[in-house]
Amino acid sequence: MDKEDSESSLRREARALARAVGGFQRAVVLTGAGVSAESGIPTFRDPDGVWSRLRPEDLASPEAFARDPKTVWDWYRARAENVKEAKPNPGHLALAEMERIFPDFYLITQNVDGLHQRAGSRRIIELHGNLARARCTSCRSIFPLEEAPLGPDGMPHCPDCGALARPDIVWFGEPLPTYALEKAFELSSGAQVFFSVGTSGLVQPAASLPYLAKRRGSVLVEVNPRETPLSADCDFIFRAGAGVALPIILEALYGR
Ligand code: OAD
Repeated sequence: MDKEDSESSLRREARALARAVGGFQRAVVLTGAGVSAESGIPTFRDPDGVWSRLRPEDLASPEAFARDPKTVWDWYRARAENVKEAKPNPGHLALAEMERIFPDFYLITQNVDGLHQRAGSRRIIELHGNLARARCTSCRSIFPLEEAPLGPDGMPHCPDCGALARPDIVWFGEPLPTYALEKAFELSSGAQVFFSVGTSGLVQPAASLPYLAKRRGSVLVEVNPRETPLSADCDFIFRAGAGVALPIILEALYGR
């Protein structure tokens, strides 16, 4: 399919979606790393993704931090810097705009890059934390990474009690923040339309949210250039990058 064909088939699918969700009030979007790919932030499990070069157990686990906190901090601080340089792409902007279309709209993200907020999304739940925040390993206070003084060890420390800080990120083997997770389950079970955007659907519990929505009768939509385990259960599929497909979906929804 050439570019024109694929764009017109995306438009056709978007018009059909807009008809199907005509009077809907409650929409939920779940995003993953793919939505930020077009902003230059690598995904995790694509062939050129982060976990193809690095091992999660060396960088994104409590054990790794206990063993070698400096290596973990160097990696997270480099990612935080990288994200500061990045800009929201048309996919992030379209999702921020979608808040105006559905009276009851929520964006649930697994991303830690803050690009949705920078694009203007306000009704957002972060499941996995945020690179721009740190938290104290002792008093548990949470603060912007930029406000954490560097200790003689070269690592960020707590501005309140001085103990070593850690990234405010959910690592493998750790539970998700309770409020965020409960809210995500509640929203997903009440959604009339649920969009899964740029996620491989391989990491629990986020991966269970679209299935929960579907069981409760939601229309399920996938935006992803590649097939995922969720694809077979989707009512509408947009096989394209989020920065291409979401503006097309947005335009069709405006005309619904
Ligand atoms: P993955 O790297 O597992 O999946 C990224 C998905 O994005 C894949 O399905 C790609 O096909 C798709 N993709 C690539 N480019 C895209 C584009 N331009 N537009 C839309 N989709 C695109 O990332 P996640 O599903 O987010 O955890 O991974 C979940 C969690 O695993 C992450 O939050 C992270 C990771 O370990 C933590 O950091 C705690």
